[in-house]
Formats: sequence, C-alpha cells, structure tokens
Amino acid sequence: MPKLNINEIDLKNKLVIVRCDFNIPLENGVITDDYRLIASLKTISYLQKKMARVVLLSHLGRPDGKIVENLRLSIVAHRLEKLIKTNLYYARDTIGPEAKKIISELKPGQIALLENLRFHKEESKNDNKFARQLTHGADYFVNDCFGMVHREHASSLGITKYLPSCMGFLMQAEIASISKIIPPPKKGFLTICGGGKLADKTTLIKSLLDLANQIIIGGAMSFPFLKAQGYETGPFPIEKKQIKIAEKILTKLNNKKTQAIGMSNQLPDSIVLPVDFACSSIFDFEKRKIGKLEIYPYNKIPRNFYPLDIGPKTVLNFQQLLEKAKVVFWNGPMGVYELEETAKGTLAIAKALGAKPNIFSIVGGGDSIVALRKLGIEKSISHISTGGGATLSFINNQHLATIEALR
Ligand code: 3PG
Repeated sequence: MPKLNINEIDLKNKLVIVRCDFNIPLENGVITDDYRLIASLKTISYLQKKMARVVLLSHLGRPDGKIVENLRLSIVAHRLEKLIKTNLYYARDTIGPEAKKIISELKPGQIALLENLRFHKEESKNDNKFARQLTHGADYFVNDCFGMVHREHASSLGITKYLPSCMGFLMQAEIASISKIIPPPKKGFLTICGGGKLADKTTLIKSLLDLANQIIIGGAMSFPFLKAQGYETGPFPIEKKQIKIAEKILTKLNNKKTQAIGMSNQLPDSIVLPVDFACSSIFDFEKRKIGKLEIYPYNKIPRNFYPLDIGPKTVLNFQQLLEKAKVVFWNGPMGVYELEETAKGTLAIAKALGAKPNIFSIVGGGDSIVALRKLGIEKSISHISTGGGATLSFINNQHLATIEALR
C-alpha cells in the first residue's frame, strides 16, 4: 500500500485509523502518569482540525488475548477526553458491533477510541485477518505508536498492507530526535538500563554491546547478570533463558567477576552492575508493604531478602560514570520506584542526569519518565521518548519493519 506524508493528505471527512501508545502506568486503577497521552495530542488535534473522522487504537498492559476488566481503555478515554476537551466515543470492543456502530456514526472532526487491542490474541500474532478487520473500511492509517516500533503486531505492521499509511507527528519527532545520536559517538556513549521486561532487554543489551561504550545495568535488569555469576538475587523469579543470555554477554566481555565490583569505568565496552542493594525481607507490591531496608553488597544478598533498590555505593559509581558521558540513553528504573522508600536510586540517577545540561540525553519508557516528572526536571533532558525497548531497538536498527512500512 502507498506510504504517505500526513501533511499532504486531504483528510476532510476521511476515516482515519490512528495507532497510539496509550500504554500508561496504572496503580490500583489510577493513572500515575499521562505523558504518553499528552505526547499523542498533536496528531489527534491535527486530524480533528482537518475534519477527519478519527478512530484511535491502542493496547494497555499485557492481557494476552483475554478480556481483563481493569485493562479496559475506558480509563484512557476519560483522561483523553479531558485533555482534548472534546467528546470522545469509546467502544467496549475493537472489531465488534459496538465499534462498528460508533464508527459508522462518526462525523467529521469526531473521535472514537476502540477497546484494548490485546484483548485479541491475533494482535500480537500479526494476524492478517485481524489486521484487515482493524481497518474498519478506513481511508488511511496513521501510526503514531513509537513505543511499539519493535513489535510486528497486526495494528502496527499488518494493517499497513491494507491501508495507505503514514507516520503521525509523534513518530516523526521520536525518529528525528533519536536519530541525532546515530551512529553513537565512539567515546562517551553511556546506556543505563533498568526495570522489568527482561526478555526484551537482555537480548537488546547483547546487540548494544557493540554500540555503547558502557552499559549501566540496574534494578531488576541486573538480576540475570548476578545470577549468571552464581549470586543470590532474593525470591524474585528469574527465567533461566535470561540468565543464559546474561551469561553469554558476560562471557563475551570476558571479564565475568571483575565487572561486578563496579569499577569498570576504567574499561571500555563494558557492563557495569550494582555493587550494593537496599533489601527487605518483607515485600508485597499489591499491598504496598515492605519491611526495614538493609544494605547488602551484590554478592551477599540473603536468599530471603528482596533487592528493591540500588544501594548508596552503586548510586555513587553510576553518578561518577555519568560525569564522563557525552551521550546518555536511560531506560527503566533502578528499583521499585513506585514506593517512596525504594525510589531513591532511580531519583538519584534522574537528578544526576538532570544536572548535566551539556550532554545529549534521551530518557525513554514510562517508568523513567515518571521519575523525571516527579522531580520536575524534564526540561533538562534533551529528548524524552515514549519508547523504552522501542528506543533501544531503534538505536540498534533504524530499519525496523514497522517503520519501513511507513517510509
Ligand atoms: C511500552 O510500554 O514499552 C510499549 O507500550 C510496548 O509495550 P509492550 O512492551 O507490552 O509491548
């Protein structure tokens, strides 16, 4: 199907499907950060002003092809409606009768939001039939979901087979900003990786090894690397596969145990792991319950203690590395940043980054953005990306299939 430029399409009265990333952080059914919604407004308002009939698609969480009540997009619909200051028509299905009815009644300048794409298992399988159903007989497809460029799903890749497609403004802006650090400088390119989604990120770290001079790994991301060296990381379950990948990475670097003492700032092309952790023997995330925090070195974490944040020595090490960096990409928190007691490491890194206005910094992914916004230091960051794994993947490969399908 033809690839278009959003500025050059006659949008009046046209039905336009827009893939957004409304995958926002939620805590007990409350939105904790709406950065991704705000970032989508430019495209939505543009289409509305041009009198298109706008149909928004998104995923939220990982419901794995089942309907999960607290992952319905109604919560997004309410917030978005306030942000765009317009009525929004929300359908409780994606390809079913409610979506069809709402779309058939849409008038120029009106906006509809369909239900969570991931309630259908076909979405992540990039199923052709589902992709075709998602078109809803529209005229155009706009992909504004940068956070998903590394996933070939029906709503990001499959649909481009059936509709003339283009990038939205957010997608364009993300690609333009991140491209500024490609190819990354030979010296002083520091990547900081933390948070969950280990399955995605350990593989990406493997490929980043050739690009980044140093990769700081904190938070849960560091667990497979510590496990690979035979250390305890408490009761958190870690997949064997992740440990194997970490093991390969460490072997590749051929500096297995020495790196874990955190002094690798003398060595180029290396991974830097935490040297200590704030741990507690009690941890219940749902109930927001933790016990007294105790600091343990990386190689002495007791089996029944949860490492919930990086420790003070690690913070110092990481801050020192930041001092020497010229370009920094940060994705993912250093610990359980949602709880005040264990947000210290993440906030310290955010603060250190914010205090360096002369470096080119990109911060990507919902959780790291929350930390920046908590501190009110977004302005000192060169580019805040809506993508986490997506940004890493794009730095690694600018020709991802979902992007090529729009170029
Ligand atoms: C993200 O949060 O990084 C994007 O929305 C993609 O979500 P996913 O990792 O669940 O595919």
